[in-house]
Amino acid sequence: MKIALVGFMGSGKSTVGKLLSEHLRVPLIDTDAEIEKRTGMSIPEIFKKKGEEYFRELERLLIEELLSLPQQSVISTGGGLPTYFNNMELLNQKAFTVYLEADFEVLWQRISEDKNRPLVLLGKERVRELFEKRRPFYERAKLRVKTDVNSPEACVEEILSSLS
Ligand code: S3P
Repeated sequence: MKIALVGFMGSGKSTVGKLLSEHLRVPLIDTDAEIEKRTGMSIPEIFKKKGEEYFRELERLLIEELLSLPQQSVISTGGGLPTYFNNMELLNQKAFTVYLEADFEVLWQRISEDKNRPLVLLGKERVRELFEKRRPFYERAKLRVKTDVNSPEACVEEILSSLS
């Protein structure tokens, strides 16, 4: 079985994903890290040199590939990935999807200083709009877990208990 974590930037996908993959003893695949590894460029570099559209296409091809592999894994998806093409449908078809939810103010606090997230440069109000636009996509996930009121360990417990 594959578990795919979805949610906005700063929602805890990497932290929860790492813990979850350790618990289940399955590989963790982080789509951003995988794209960086394959292109030899950082995410801000890809956005700057190739543009966001190019990045979305890389995400689309990667998620299709990862979901077609036979092995079990925890997949931590980039914050925009489920909201482009029919990526969210595909994720729901091929994985147990979990939306890591948090209040926007909490998310903004976590991401506002991060230089590795090019979209943060849009500023708080535009990022809030993006968050509102994306929410309906994330909300199609099979499970929702609040990461602003629960510790990463408690989130993992919640995910594991809903699987058993
Ligand atoms: C993005 C989120 C980032 C990364 C890229 C674009 C987005 O991933 O894929 O900067 O569109 O929200 P994280 O959600 O891991 O920050």
